[in-house]
Amino acid sequence: MSEPKPRIVVTRRLPEAVEAALSERFEAVLNPSDTQMEAGALAEAFAGADAVLCTVGDRIDAAAIGAAPRAKMVATFSVGTNHIDLEACRAAGLRVSSTPGVLTDATADIALSLILMAMRRCGEGERMVRAGAWRGWTPTQLLGRDPTGATLGIVGMGRIGRATAARAHHGFGMKILYANRSEVDPGMPAERRELPELMAQADVISVHAPASPENRGLISAELIARMKPEAYLINTARGDVVDEPALIAALQAGRIAGAGLDVFAQEPQVPEALRALETVVLLPHLGSATRATREAMGMKCLDNLAAFFDGRALPDAVV
Ligand code: DGY
Repeated sequence: MSEPKPRIVVTRRLPEAVEAALSERFEAVLNPSDTQMEAGALAEAFAGADAVLCTVGDRIDAAAIGAAPRAKMVATFSVGTNHIDLEACRAAGLRVSSTPGVLTDATADIALSLILMAMRRCGEGERMVRAGAWRGWTPTQLLGRDPTGATLGIVGMGRIGRATAARAHHGFGMKILYANRSEVDPGMPAERRELPELMAQADVISVHAPASPENRGLISAELIARMKPEAYLINTARGDVVDEPALIAALQAGRIAGAGLDVFAQEPQVPEALRALETVVLLPHLGSATRATREAMGMKCLDNLAAFFDGRALPDAVV
């Protein structure tokens, strides 16, 4: 008799091709309703799991881990791991994998979209047209700023930071400043700055720092206060890397020109104060949301799970 297949609990719907491949290789317990699993449902689903395939919407904390006594691995369908208590995983002897590399371009594309939308006031224009409020072309309507030739400050020069810088520099002739723990070779002219200096010098600042505990509130009220009044803040990393209330206060007071946000501190809640601001472009965490990227992310989860259960090294080990 053949060995039973490892049981993988999958917390959300995944692209069809990924669910099919997972079901072929494992006993995949899928989530056909695609609803977010609250703590109770998560605990119930995890009870018999040999591994868990989770997403950024799940909270994999000590309680969730405790509810999965059989589980040996967590494969997260994300590059970020801030939704997982990595220490608790270590303590429980759980391996953790993520999906680096495959979402770099898609996320950099969204960062660039936010830069363009914020600087050229596309959200405001779109809302005006949809509301039937457009009364025709005028020479002074919705005047924005030119991304071309502007100075872009990249906070966190990892893969996505570098890909955003490349698009901005090669596509729009933007001057690139970056703040990063170490000097990197971005493959283009770029000057390293201390973060406070970068905040004061850039016309648009794009945040790409990971949501580690030490980066919580990294873009603080003090740093936001250093921004030029005509500057924009873009965030495609994680909401809690930016002091959200301080950003809202700066925007409400008109102390900075605008913001483009794909991520929020308490997703999916987006503060009413942000939604009320015309100068902010808001997206629902779309960074990696292309079909090809999401399939590649799923296949990475599958590869890591297969490696683990075959006794091979994890290609994308976090823990
Ligand atoms: C990630 O992978 O961490 C993104 O935020 C979701 O794709």
